[in-house]
Amino acid sequence: MRLGIISALAEEQQGLIEALESPSKHFHGMREYTSGKLWEIDAVCVLSRIGKVAAAMTAAILVEKFEVTHIIFTGVAGSGDKNVNVGDIVVAESLIQHDFDASPLFPRFEIPLTSLSRFATDVALTERLAGAAGQITRVHRGLIASGDQFIGKLTQIQALKADLPDLLAVEMEGAAVAQVCFELGIPFAVIRTISDNANDDAAVDFMHFIKGVASRYAFDVIQNFCKA
Ligand code: ADE
Repeated sequence: MRLGIISALAEEQQGLIEALESPSKHFHGMREYTSGKLWEIDAVCVLSRIGKVAAAMTAAILVEKFEVTHIIFTGVAGSGDKNVNVGDIVVAESLIQHDFDASPLFPRFEIPLTSLSRFATDVALTERLAGAAGQITRVHRGLIASGDQFIGKLTQIQALKADLPDLLAVEMEGAAVAQVCFELGIPFAVIRTISDNANDDAAVDFMHFIKGVASRYAFDVIQNFCKA
């Protein structure tokens, strides 16, 4: 396995780059890719920056240029369910682009020419990641929705939940990585620590969380994952 690890922001991946043994850095397309050994696993860590295009580009480059065989996205997300609390972890079983709508040409959410609206994560990677996360906090598994919007209004998250009743979390990158990995045949998984409730308090809660717990969780989960 050669594992690509993507996060949007530095806070979501803090400590991991420092933990890489024999690191070597490569700049490409405005991003820094750091390769090395992470607890015996051959790994490449990179920050995608925020949004679906940024994440899609990063995932494609990881595969095509850095030859990773598996991808994990780790970061924070807003809660999409009343039972999913700040500090819990959501491990995706499938991901959807909630802002994709080519109707009436294709059904809402469907990605043209894939016949899919939900992209399933790799079962083995997801299982191992959920096990690693379960040693740290409460873990939920299910649907994550991604879009090029920070969800920071109660009315926004309520509207999304009405359309996607099984929604567990919202973020801005995971489903883009999912589509790229599906199209390139790369097993992938997405893990998100809940930073906020995607409501009117989301922006303040997000800023607070990202400065504190976010990085420690990501580090601990990836460490457990690699050592498993
Ligand atoms: N990432 C963390 N919180 C988020 C939110 N409320 N909306 C979108 N992405 C997020």
